[in-house]
Amino acid sequence: MEDKMAEDLREVRNLLAREGCQSWTSEKYQNDVYSFVLENQEHGKGIVEIGCYKGGLSVFLAFVCQKLGWAFYTIDINQQFIGETKNLLGKLALDDHVTFFVGTLSQFVEQVKLADPALLVIVDGDHHYEGVLNDIKNIYRMNYQSYAAVFHDFSLRHEDLPDERVDKAIYDFWGDEVSLLRIGEQFDENTSYPLKNRPGPDGHYWELNGSEGVIVKLHSNSWVNQFKHRMIEWWKKTAW
Ligand SMILES: C[S@@+](CC[C@H](N)C(=O)[O-])C[C@H]1O[C@@H](n2cnc3c(N)ncnc32)[C@H](O)[C@@H]1O
Repeated sequence: MEDKMAEDLREVRNLLAREGCQSWTSEKYQNDVYSFVLENQEHGKGIVEIGCYKGGLSVFLAFVCQKLGWAFYTIDINQQFIGETKNLLGKLALDDHVTFFVGTLSQFVEQVKLADPALLVIVDGDHHYEGVLNDIKNIYRMNYQSYAAVFHDFSLRHEDLPDERVDKAIYDFWGDEVSLLRIGEQFDENTSYPLKNRPGPDGHYWELNGSEGVIVKLHSNSWVNQFKHRMIEWWKKTAW
């Protein structure tokens, strides 16, 4: 698996370099997503991406889906970004199994039916607290339950955007005990990435000890399981 993964990653990185396409996601994040896909591929068939921007990560995801014979769905509220992503994937012959959708996830679930349960829903659209909560709720409205949700920019902050809180939306929805798999870059005091005391030129920074992304397994973190867990915790506290 390691060899196959390394070979595939070389191939897709060559494509990305040739086209000069950029993603806001790090190589480490992409590699971690790919490892998760390979290790869990029996649990779903397909990937849904929310927020394609200029298609940098979409190339990577479409490549993975093509390798596995899966459907790939990409969503963005901005028509121009969907157009650019469509052109890019077309140019790389990666568009034969792809659905391009202009709109929100809420509109997507009303208009599109997945062919199979997706392994992953990659959430990287609206990073405001309410926007992330809406996306999480809409993941549960799809015609099939997906296996896991991947969140980019988990610990990202902007000085002028106090409501940018991907992490808080996740904890508020699933509870503080939610089981999170941290992926991508990790930001301790030795990181070269911007931190609160030395933000980037546009005011962005990462929360200390934060994570670029996280994966949440939807089955093991369902509402019912969270409710059961809270009842057990409550019972433990009050039973003695
Ligand atoms: C951070 S960028 C995505 C970056 C991309 N994943 C990458 O790797 O380069 C966020 C994108 O989400 C889109 N967007 C913002 N709010 C959205 C929403 N509610 N639903 C779908 N897309 C949204 C924006 O138009 C933008 O293209």
